[in-house]
Amino acid sequence: MSAFGDTKAITPPDIRSRKGGTPLVCLTAYTTPVARLVDPHCDVVLVGDSVGMVLHGLPSTLGVTLEMMITHGQAVRRGIKQALMVVDLPFGSYEESPEQAFRNAARVMSETGCTAVKLEGGETMAETIGFLAARGVPVMAHVGLTPQAINTIGGYRVQGRGGDAERIRRDAIAVSEAGAFAVVLEKVPEALARRITGEVAAPTIGIGASAACDGQILVVDDMLGLFGDFRPKFVKRYAELGEAAAAAIASYAHEVKERQFPAAEHVFADAPKHAGTQATKSGEAA
Ligand code: KIV
Repeated sequence: MSAFGDTKAITPPDIRSRKGGTPLVCLTAYTTPVARLVDPHCDVVLVGDSVGMVLHGLPSTLGVTLEMMITHGQAVRRGIKQALMVVDLPFGSYEESPEQAFRNAARVMSETGCTAVKLEGGETMAETIGFLAARGVPVMAHVGLTPQAINTIGGYRVQGRGGDAERIRRDAIAVSEAGAFAVVLEKVPEALARRITGEVAAPTIGIGASAACDGQILVVDDMLGLFGDFRPKFVKRYAELGEAAAAAIASYAHEVKERQFPAAEHVFADAPKHAGTQATKSGEAA
């Protein structure tokens, strides 16, 4: 149930109980129309801080603010009927202390109506995850490649290929034991994802982490071909909407210049003499 009290919505315990079952379907959304499209097909809709790069043109997620997450969270909430809605806590809004995390998570939940929050980090965030979970804030954890730590990691490389595999494994175990209801595993090798998925109680949700995970998540603009700044290997494009949109805009520009648009069917005629203005069914003057 969300802060809006819709009783049929998928809950964090529902997600946790799906461990080892039919894979969980998860996508991001940042706007009401896209939330309406993804909601019927998804178990989880994430208002990811990827919104900063995808919709606001930022170079990383580091510049995303709590206010941005709340604005997009409110928009997405209006488009969700059944999926579990999760909102990312942005960089700087939770790392300082469990109390800071609770204050900002509670604000995000009450102002957007989301059911849960996501935060990045493993062993170092376990205490915070336990603190939040014990106070009514369901937490989705995020380990492996954690984009908010891009400056300390040094790039968007695959994580856990060498000596850091054991650290990522410990991170996943720590956040699951702390009470996270699900763990996002980003950009780790298949063998590590399989091992972690077999070891942790919470379902793992992979992004660039193979089908061994308990579910998958993608950035919706990536899989629709709307975000072209870069194309990670783990993204499958299910549509090329960016190309379709560019072609449509070029056609419009051509037709405007050639006076082909607007055509007769888009133009309003004068009112018939003596008849007054008649309203059509659509409410437009004919
Ligand atoms: O911000 C985001 O969209 C995410 C997903 C890619 C997991 O964290």
